[in-house]
Amino acid sequence: MLILSIETSCDETAVSLIEAHGDFPQAKYDILGNALWSQIDVHREYGGVFPMLAKREHVATIVPMLEKALTESGLEGRENDRIISELIKQELQTILYREPELIDSLFAFHKKYGSYDIDLIAVTSGPGLEPALWVGVNFARALALLWNVPIVPVNHMEGHVLSSVFDIERDDMLSDIAFPTISLLISGGHTELILMKNWGQYEKIGQTRDDAVGEAYDKVARMLGLQYPGGPEIAKRAEKARKEKFPKFADFPTPMLNSGDLDFSFSGLKTAVRYAVQEKTLSEIDVAAIARDFEDAVTTVLLKKSITAMEKHGAETLIVGGGVSANQHLRRMFEAAFLTALPHTTVYFPQPRLSTDNSIMIALAGHARAASALAPRGSDVIRADGNKSLS
Ligand code: KG4
Ligand code: ZN
Repeated sequence: MLILSIETSCDETAVSLIEAHGDFPQAKYDILGNALWSQIDVHREYGGVFPMLAKREHVATIVPMLEKALTESGLEGRENDRIISELIKQELQTILYREPELIDSLFAFHKKYGSYDIDLIAVTSGPGLEPALWVGVNFARALALLWNVPIVPVNHMEGHVLSSVFDIERDDMLSDIAFPTISLLISGGHTELILMKNWGQYEKIGQTRDDAVGEAYDKVARMLGLQYPGGPEIAKRAEKARKEKFPKFADFPTPMLNSGDLDFSFSGLKTAVRYAVQEKTLSEIDVAAIARDFEDAVTTVLLKKSITAMEKHGAETLIVGGGVSANQHLRRMFEAAFLTALPHTTVYFPQPRLSTDNSIMIALAGHARAASALAPRGSDVIRADGNKSLS
């Protein structure tokens, strides 16, 4: 099955073409084409992602990303299918009326390449920034109609879960995991613990009551004068502080560590950093030490809650996913803890290129949901949903 996947939930415009051989979850996957455009440079000067700016960038880059992914795959369009009927033109204009610039670029693309023989189009419909999500959703609907291909809406968080178990060594199939499983999803917008009793069955058992972990990283980075996105910037400084053994800057709190439930809270930690730095001129050593102390507090909480969740639900597998799972310290601490304290368990982290947002994970989730694909003309029920939940 040839799957074209589209991801525009935040500040990455990504399109992939993946071939799935077999049924989910035993299929083998070939990544035929993969294109990703990061808007980080555009948002950096504002210190965060602005939804309308993200939308504009997605509109400008989605067709070039489609072209790149398809060209890389070597797949060719149908030569004798480059003319669009008046009826289809009108329908496409209706679908894309909120992104009118896309109409011309899509028509030009079709004139150049014709239709593609794809079996399924998978698109992120949430959660994320709604104006950004709509670009992907409407573009995917337009393509589905133009090429007459079924379309399936995908939950971005399911994509993060599946990208974490995409076999790290073989890179071509999902790992054979033991259920029940706990997923710790940590990204710019989410911090949640999910119980999975089987593939596709999700039950939220814990979540943040305020800021998401990635959000806390980004906000603390800002307080330290570091640029957006804050995660990698803080991680870099924290590593230096560990390597060079800089003295502790502050005893930051580990919120809700012993609350007995599986919820999180990071705004108190963020505020503690704010108090610790206010009216101080920070040296580079101070910044690095704060980054490390903050990161240590975050890691302690995430690790303890994950272990509690596993014990409570008899799970022997932990899946860590979302942008913050790119954090090397977090990964080392989890791997060490699981090796010593929980030797019969397995912890999965995504490959580095699959930690942050990408469209390979959307193709995997699309494949998992292929049975609920919609016909192109029934796709108007697909809505971008910024708060779409996994369970
Ligand atoms: O999953 P993701 O790419 O986008 C969302 O769905 O939100 O996650 C982005 C978040 C940002 O907050 C970013 O600062 C954080 O992931 N992040 C990291 C690292 N790389 C990205 N946080 C900690 N350490 C990192 N190495
Ligand atoms: Zn994400």
